[in-house]
Amino acid sequence: MIRLSDVSKVYRVKEPDSRETRDFYALKGVSLDIGDGDIFGVIGRSGAGKSTLVRCVNLLERPTSGQVFVNGTEMTALSGARLRAARRRTGMIFQSFNLLANRTVYGNIAFPLELAGWNKSEIRGRVREIASLVEIEDKLGDYPGTLSGGQKQRVGIARALANRPDVLLSDEATSALDPQTTKSVLRLIRDINEKLGLTVILITHEMNVIKEICDSVAVLENGEIAEQGPVLQVFTSPRKNATKEMLSHVINAELPESFAGLEFSRTPSRDSDLTLRVSFFGSVAATPIVSEMVRKFDVDVNILSAHIDHIKSVPFGTLVMQLSGSDKEGALEFLLDMKLRVEVIGYAARSADITH
Ligand SMILES: Nc1ncnc2c1ncn2[C@@H]1O[C@H](COP(=O)(O)OP(=O)(O)OP(=O)(O)O)[C@@H](O)[C@H]1O
Ligand SMILES: [Mg+2]
Repeated sequence: MIRLSDVSKVYRVKEPDSRETRDFYALKGVSLDIGDGDIFGVIGRSGAGKSTLVRCVNLLERPTSGQVFVNGTEMTALSGARLRAARRRTGMIFQSFNLLANRTVYGNIAFPLELAGWNKSEIRGRVREIASLVEIEDKLGDYPGTLSGGQKQRVGIARALANRPDVLLSDEATSALDPQTTKSVLRLIRDINEKLGLTVILITHEMNVIKEICDSVAVLENGEIAEQGPVLQVFTSPRKNATKEMLSHVINAELPESFAGLEFSRTPSRDSDLTLRVSFFGSVAATPIVSEMVRKFDVDVNILSAHIDHIKSVPFGTLVMQLSGSDKEGALEFLLDMKLRVEVIGYAARSADITH
């Protein structure tokens, strides 16, 4: 288990055009609990503090305050040889791969084992074993410069795993790769996670990466955790604007433009339509519920926008709909009883009155 307890990282930065300096919080009171064998995503915009956070886990960066525990060891209490030994329990991969250009693939994977003092024959066995796991065994004699991006990252993963770490830290490992290669590298990370029971912390600015393989996610904004929880929960009921913005291209739940100037009222009215934004996920599929509602309450439904996506093959989505008819409130009660997340936008003129 990985635990960050109230971790802050402060840099002393120079004010522009002045000799004054001030404290800049790259991380501010970050607390996280990551379970063994989890794939934990950290998402945030550029400059949010993602790299700083992941570097604080293996103490490549020492937190200014707070504690970091990795599998019961307090990393922040260690230094020197004991810290170097503890750091070997975590492997790390990077966006720019960070391979040694003058060493072959074999030499790159062997490098951390040489540093850890393994003997030649042990190294040979381990390099072959790990190269086969990441499916790069036919490239062992090649130099990194001749490999594709996806192959380079496979070598990066092999090197990170060579020492049999408990934790894999990934800092934008797929950001330099095309979508197809990204998928195959993510699949590899998930396979390794399952096969070796490795805990993974995956840093990204792409919501699709989180959606593809993570169990839990933390949204980082200006060095602080804006929200965290299971991916399904955070992505289907985002509470903070930072999260909503990141999701906006996936859940396009905005109202149509023709609604922009419309006045919505909270007061029920017979003659106006009730506009709702309904989110659903998993077993609560929206379509059968909507048709049952239409039958039971004799309302008409006009779907204004709909978007459905999948998180680890669980469907989730949002519908924006207008209800008309005499028992709109009954229909609303029914939707709420169904445990759908319903946001009442309000009552407004009939859609026929709206100029599209
Ligand atoms: N050594 C440093 N000195 C001063 N400021 C720093 C230092 N390292 C990082 N920062 C600042 O801390 C903030 C967080 O940086 P960090 O690299 O962790 O962001 P990030 O979320 O990884 O961004 P990106 O997505 O661009 O990689 C940034 O504003 C950055 O300028
Ligand atoms: Mg970064």
